[in-house]
Amino acid sequence: MSDRSPDLSNELAAWDRDHFFHPSTHMGMHARGESPTRVIGGGEGVYITDTNGRRSLDAFAGLYCVNVGYGRIEIADAIARQAKELAYYHAYVGHGTEASITLAKMIIERAPKGMSRVYFGLSGSDANETNIKLIWYYNNILGRPEKKKIISRWRGYHGSGVMTGSLTGLELFHNAFDLPRAPILHTEAPYYFRREDRSMSEEQFSQHCADRLEELILAEGPETVAAFIGEPILGTGGIVPPPAGYWRKIQAVLDRYDILLVADEVVTGFGRLGTMFGSDHYGMKPDLITIAKGLTSAYAPLSGVIVGEKVWNVLVDGSDRLGAIGHGWTYAAHPICAAAGVANLQLIDEMDLVSNAGEVGAYFRKGLTEVLGGHRHVGEVRGDGLMAAVEFVEDRDGRIFFDPARKVGPQVAAALLERGVIGRAMPQGDILGFAPPLCLTKDEADIVVTKTAEAVEAVLGRG
Ligand SMILES: Cc1ncc(COP(=O)(O)O)c(C=O)c1O
Repeated sequence: MSDRSPDLSNELAAWDRDHFFHPSTHMGMHARGESPTRVIGGGEGVYITDTNGRRSLDAFAGLYCVNVGYGRIEIADAIARQAKELAYYHAYVGHGTEASITLAKMIIERAPKGMSRVYFGLSGSDANETNIKLIWYYNNILGRPEKKKIISRWRGYHGSGVMTGSLTGLELFHNAFDLPRAPILHTEAPYYFRREDRSMSEEQFSQHCADRLEELILAEGPETVAAFIGEPILGTGGIVPPPAGYWRKIQAVLDRYDILLVADEVVTGFGRLGTMFGSDHYGMKPDLITIAKGLTSAYAPLSGVIVGEKVWNVLVDGSDRLGAIGHGWTYAAHPICAAAGVANLQLIDEMDLVSNAGEVGAYFRKGLTEVLGGHRHVGEVRGDGLMAAVEFVEDRDGRIFFDPARKVGPQVAAALLERGVIGRAMPQGDILGFAPPLCLTKDEADIVVTKTAEAVEAVLGRG
């Protein structure tokens, strides 16, 4: 795929401009040819290759999803075997396949304690849509029809459907879409670096976030608030680990008002933080867990909601009154995707990728901090496991941010790409994000660190 002639590459680029409506892309610039089409043709390990033969170290694992790395033949073989044997059968009315049933068992074996069942979907967005419906259904069964509001955080990312786009707390995903919709509410982002009162310690700031949440619950009426959703570590909102004590303090507020906790582990599930789940990493006690990306390492689209015992038991009780649950997707538990999931989870174990993420992640973040921590335009280098971010500021001491119109983050990401490494300019703020495949080696981490330092110097000077 990667040795196409330049003519074909140009032809593809022209077809692309004329026919392809890309997600998260500036439509006008793309259609006019002012922003490039890049046609990706192959991948191996942490590298991808485009059809012009240019190779890049993908330090964002696609969209933090190709966790086992590119080109894993074991998963490709499992997909091919399943496609030949049985490409499709549905999961309605108690049907399953060896792959989907095995995968459900493997997920529950790896999940935090107290998890009971897996409901499969295809994307992180549809899994969160399922969460919202299950939360409403649960409260209706319990005879609490007014307990329906769901609280999310500013800067959270939970998808881009109508309701999941509402849960998402980023301007770009709301603007001109008439979002967010009721009954979704937002509370303070646990973003210590951007705290208003800079005299606060991390613990004090965590308490402040918990207090703000409690104020919102009391203002709305606790009897109307059903659930709180959060990523263990903020992802698309800026790759921001929770401040010390955050989840413990939030959990206490939720327990006080009988509010369910949804841990959105679409990014953190299956090893990214150096533990199988982020909930275990930060001591969260979720009632529902969203999974997607790392479940198949994106070799096939698959997501799920892991339902905890407390919710499951209520749903089962309700079914004798309500009958079969009226919720399902044609492709739920698709056998080809489930086969990819089984092979992927096996590979994660065999390659010991969860501990590699912890070990190489710490090494990588230390390297980034060493080369960039003292730069006058770097406000913070942060992260956890194999997630890292560098946040750029105009003035470090005054914590003055750059004018967004200068697009400093995108400029650094572009300079990095020119040097053969892919990082991601996060959508809100001048933040360069990293979430490489979990198979990253220390030598590969060194390359990312060196090239990032060069890219920062090219855009912002020596520091
Ligand atoms: C935490 C989180 N939840 C949900 C989603 C939505 O997943 P999808 O893009 O598969 O719909 C994402 C996507 O990046 C995510 O990061």
